[in-house]
Amino acid sequence: MTNSVKYLAILMMLALYPATGYAKQSACVVCHSSISQEKDKTVMDCWLRSIHRQNGVTCDACHAGNPDVHVGSIKGISAKQFEALKSLSMSRAKGFIGIPSPMQMFDMCGQCHSDSVNRYKGSIMGIAFLNKKGGPSCTDCHSAHYVIIPDVPKTCEKCHKDTTGFDQIDPMNVNDATVTELSRLRIKIAEEKIKGKEPPLFPEELGSFQIGFVAFGAIIVLFIIAYILYLLIERRR
Ligand code: HEC
Ligand code: HEC
Ligand code: HEC
Ligand code: HEC
Ligand code: HEC
Repeated sequence: MTNSVKYLAILMMLALYPATGYAKQSACVVCHSSISQEKDKTVMDCWLRSIHRQNGVTCDACHAGNPDVHVGSIKGISAKQFEALKSLSMSRAKGFIGIPSPMQMFDMCGQCHSDSVNRYKGSIMGIAFLNKKGGPSCTDCHSAHYVIIPDVPKTCEKCHKDTTGFDQIDPMNVNDATVTELSRLRIKIAEEKIKGKEPPLFPEELGSFQIGFVAFGAIIVLFIIAYILYLLIERRR
């Protein structure tokens, strides 16, 4: 009897173990939730609402560092203790990355989105980003903490004046073929604009009524010409 109670207790502990594991808070989240600086509040607010948080992508998945430092309550601890916890957690030795360099950002996102990174890496804008020539970073388009699929062309207008046709290309893989395709699209769009402004001389698809109407008009005109010719010939005689 006492033995079965023991086993039951052990079983219950085993069942609860993963739950207690999940309940453990990330040190990054605990401490950063307590910082009152405006930029940190924005970071937390964005991340809490993000698809990343919903999928368990926590701060350390991108920034690395040590999320397992026991932080407990931030309120009431000394500045020295705070600094100690901070450097233990945001530890360069544990690979902590602050604001990433371009290459670090590709590695950061590439851990989980390697296809997207590879698509972007070789593109005109990706190369301009790597070489610090004004190309957009992943987060210029997607944001870092509240990742979204960006609005095209609104996001592009930050850097591009003419965004005609941008909604019809792959913005993550702009290459020479895209530029050719884009100029073809732009000529087509410009032609359609002109067409739209001046109605065509003849409707492209004539209805049978319209054909009848035009034919009728043509016959009348022929009759008039024939009549004038007839009158001229009559006068000569
Ligand atoms: C005990 C508090 C504390 C903990 C724990 C903590 N941070 Fe921080 N963190 C701060 C403070 C304060 C700042 C802002 C001041 C600064 O940059 O030194 C900061 C700044 C940052 C920055 C900006 C760095 C920069 O170069 O501008 C990042 C990124 C960051 N933390 C991520 C993390 C991650 C990821 C973790 C967990 C692995 C973590 N933090 C854990 C307090 C903490
Ligand atoms: C998907 C990857 C990703 C995740 C997850 C993530 N960050 Fe960041 N974070 C970045 C990138 C990239 C930057 C650099 C700024 C930028 O590109 O917008 C950054 C910048 C920061 C900064 C500096 C902000 C500033 O305005 O200077 C802080 C602080 C920070 N992160 C803290 C956190 C904390 C705390 C968490 C977890 C709640 C977190 N990050 C989760 C990618 C991430
Ligand atoms: C630890 C893995 C991980 C890392 C690192 C990571 N992501 Fe994600 N990301 C996910 C998961 C999981 C999802 C949600 C499921 C999906 O769409 O694939 C997601 C979704 C997204 C989406 C789609 C959003 C939507 O609404 O459809 C974008 C955009 C995105 N991530 C961008 C980034 C960027 C930019 C970085 C680097 C700064 C990054 N991610 C880093 C795992 C990650
Ligand atoms: C110029 C803006 C721009 C940049 C820079 C950019 N993206 Fe995107 N990304 C988009 C748009 C727009 C979509 C949605 C349309 C599409 O799938 O092509 C998208 C789609 C995605 C998706 C959803 C899945 C997919 O591949 O369609 C992920 C994940 C993603 N991007 C991650 C990244 C990462 C990581 C980087 C940096 C290496 C990056 N993006 C750079 C604009 C951008
Ligand atoms: C942060 C600035 C920035 C943002 C945001 C941006 N671009 Fe660009 N883009 C550039 C730069 C810089 C180049 C030129 C690179 C070069 O010529 O080496 C470029 C080049 C291009 C080109 C090829 C040449 C041209 O100008 O037509 C296309 C197409 C393009 N971007 C589309 C987009 C689309 C679509 C978006 C939005 C989803 C976008 N860009 C957002 C900076 C940006």
